[in-house]
Amino acid sequence: SAELNPAILPLDWLLGTWESEEPGEGCFPTINPFRYIETLYFSHVGQPVINFMFNAFHAESKKPLHRECGFIRIQPGTNRVAFIIAQNSGLVEIEEGELTGQQLNLQTHALARISFAKEPHVQQISRVFQLRPDGRLEQTVSMATDNQPLMQHLRITYHRSS
Ligand code: HEM
Repeated sequence: SAELNPAILPLDWLLGTWESEEPGEGCFPTINPFRYIETLYFSHVGQPVINFMFNAFHAESKKPLHRECGFIRIQPGTNRVAFIIAQNSGLVEIEEGELTGQQLNLQTHALARISFAKEPHVQQISRVFQLRPDGRLEQTVSMATDNQPLMQHLRITYHRSS
């Protein structure tokens, strides 16, 4: 396997496969609360880039639901991080933010969607990834839509599976 590019060394704690333990919790004022399971893959090929895929499934039916994939870059010599994201819902997005220790705080920097995307449309996303002292990874996602202000949609913790 390729040697890690030193540019992404500050994010090496993400690399590998992560699986939810307890199901994650989904909510939003306009929907019924739900539970989901999710697998995250972070990999690299020696470029100053991390490749990722997130695959979520309904906790009870195991039906595939939300999917995202993309790339992560870090501005060399800084703690500025960018996620370049495509979502199966028809959303594409750039999130930017800062790496502080082993916590990433990201916010939508640019967003576009397919012309026939389901409504209500997402207007803003903010998310946090945090490697906890117990070795678990935690992700929380908040979003604003056409008719709701920024509010939590997702919260989940993962353990490293490889
Ligand atoms: C609903 C966005 C991730 C499961 C929604 C809605 C939006 C949305 C806009 C509709 C809200 C409304 O009707 O007012 C997003 C975005 C995500 C994301 C931007 C990622 C950044 C996920 C994930 C799951 C999930 C990981 C896990 C399975 C659901 C479910 C609903 C929902 C079950 C309610 C039923 C439905 O409308 O399909 N999401 N979502 N979402 N989301 Fe997400």
